[in-house]
Amino acid sequence: MSLVRVKIDDEEIEVPEGTLVITAAEKLGKSIPHFCYHERLTPVAACRLCLVEIEGMPGLQPSCATKVKDGMIVRTNTKNVLDSHKSVLDLVLETHPLDCPKCEATGRCKLEDFTYEFGPHRVSYYRPPGISAYDYEELSWSPVLKFDPNKCVECSRCIRVCDEVQDCRALVASSRGHNWRITTFTGGPLHCDFCGACASVCPTGAIEQQPGKFWKKDWELEKHFVICSHCGHGCTLLLRGWEGRIARIEDDFKVGINRANICSRGRFGFDIISHSSRLSKPLLRSDGKLVEVTWEKALFAAMEMITASHSVIGLASGMLSVEELFLFSKLLASRNGKKFSESRDGDVIEFEKKRLGRYGSTHGFDQLDSFESIVLVDIPVEELDEVLRIDLISAAKKSGAKLFTAGRASFRLKKRIAGLFKINSQTLASAPAKTLFVVDTERIEEKELSAILEKVSSDPFTGILFVAAQSNSRALSSFGFRVLPSDEISEVDLMIAAGPLQMTERPTSVKRLIASASFRNELVESADLVFPAALPFEKSGTYVNSEGRAQYSDIAVPMAGESWPDAVIWISVMKELGEATPSTPREILDEVRNNHPELFERNYPVKSSEAEPKLPSTRLAPPKRHRGLLLDKSEWLRKLQEHLDFSKEFSPWF
Ligand code: SF4
Ligand code: SF4
Ligand code: SF4
Ligand code: FES
Repeated sequence: MSLVRVKIDDEEIEVPEGTLVITAAEKLGKSIPHFCYHERLTPVAACRLCLVEIEGMPGLQPSCATKVKDGMIVRTNTKNVLDSHKSVLDLVLETHPLDCPKCEATGRCKLEDFTYEFGPHRVSYYRPPGISAYDYEELSWSPVLKFDPNKCVECSRCIRVCDEVQDCRALVASSRGHNWRITTFTGGPLHCDFCGACASVCPTGAIEQQPGKFWKKDWELEKHFVICSHCGHGCTLLLRGWEGRIARIEDDFKVGINRANICSRGRFGFDIISHSSRLSKPLLRSDGKLVEVTWEKALFAAMEMITASHSVIGLASGMLSVEELFLFSKLLASRNGKKFSESRDGDVIEFEKKRLGRYGSTHGFDQLDSFESIVLVDIPVEELDEVLRIDLISAAKKSGAKLFTAGRASFRLKKRIAGLFKINSQTLASAPAKTLFVVDTERIEEKELSAILEKVSSDPFTGILFVAAQSNSRALSSFGFRVLPSDEISEVDLMIAAGPLQMTERPTSVKRLIASASFRNELVESADLVFPAALPFEKSGTYVNSEGRAQYSDIAVPMAGESWPDAVIWISVMKELGEATPSTPREILDEVRNNHPELFERNYPVKSSEAEPKLPSTRLAPPKRHRGLLLDKSEWLRKLQEHLDFSKEFSPWF
């Protein structure tokens, strides 16, 4: 794309042809107020807040809908421009409830920010006595979203994100002109994907998330980027919390692979962390009952059970991190234990490795638009990976990629499906060039997989994307975890179960059971020894997503009770057994890298701008919170304290 040179307020910048004036100005660090413009959405130039002067063009022009031209001269700070910003804001404030001190959005509200920056500092429009603002009732749209029509600035971002990005169209505008209102499609409660994107793009407090409402002001919340653990997409979530509690999950367009898309599980599933059934102490069976014991006693009991067992099997969850799976597999290897998981992912990838000598998906999520056809092979996309559904829609819109379905159709993609595709050698031979097959590793049949892999190996323009069901099930194959056979497990002395599992009861052929788990459930109740395990967000670790991308997630909140990360649990057990084990995050990751380089490689070019998975900076030991550690470094706080001490002397109340 060719570059053009523009001058904005006497500063020159070179930007790609087609760039919007508002984006070019942003690159120069200039703030142009805007409501209806959003970088993720099609410009509609509706609010008229972003007007600027452009030499050679009449009047003022919307910077959000005007593309730069070579030699263009733009002015964003003339009296005319600043007056226009002020007038638009004045009009909005005429009817806006000035509820800032008790508004959930204060501190991140764009109306608040722009009014502060551009004025007016006194509302000039006349309000008839008794009519100070709109007085509509606040609506609870759903358990997670609420809508206050009084705070709506009519930018239509919510309607557009729901339609253009989410492909849901759950929100509409009712009526026109002065009566223009946002409403749900049904006119009643919201029926939608509950992705929360409408609340995320709303510039004011009109649409707000219900979870976390009025817990803390925005500026009191810390920010942590973490990797979502609810599916194999590997979305980056912006966790906002304080003192170890999570207030809400936000998105950031510029960070992560999900381009600000988050599904309802990722956005609202954070309360699992504080669920009342969390395990907080190790449990040991004594006189038929599970009783709380110290870690020391639990580790000693584990050592006794393991050394007394002749046959050991391990069952690992695909939600454990790379480091945790590695350490768990090391423990099992030291006892000649068989390695199982509940996921078929490891088996499918191993199958591919044997057939093609390669490991995992051939393409990434951001390459979907390079295909002309995408075949969804018996995959319920929205159940498995909701953000992949959004990526598929975006690819279909952007490049015109045609979506086909083989087997079970995806309900939410139904209207986008161009036709059916039956997988056999004839159809594959005549499949259009540039076809991507998207397969569900838990459901794909061996016959179909063989045929697709043959096509992929013979046609360099064909690709395969293995969609993993869990956040790290892609790593299971590297460490040799294979799906647990559905028939009864043969007689075994000890089963060690690690991480969140679907298994609800201990198999009858298992004599003893050790489990690391985060919640009380039937499997835990049937165990002989239970280690309370930390959840993602409470621990650091690397996760390999469906594309084969290794991403590092850091600690964001302290661990519940006395729980430990699985990595620490299995290191401690190995130490108790006298086995050699790496114990710092760097040692662990180095050993994994040396022995399993495939976990950090991809089958497609990696963009140079992409960050390599970071090496953990923290140790895996239970984190401690250092509250207020840096507060004494603040000059303002010191002055404030002095002021308080001083005012006490003169105050009649002290
Ligand atoms: S939560 Fe998502 S799907 Fe529901 S209305 Fe908002 S943007 Fe649309
Ligand atoms: S509810 Fe929010 S996003 Fe939707 S039109 Fe109103 S201000 Fe804009
Ligand atoms: S798509 Fe998957 S990784 Fe992304 S937010 Fe949803 S559950 Fe989490
Ligand atoms: S932001 Fe440009 S017209 Fe609304």
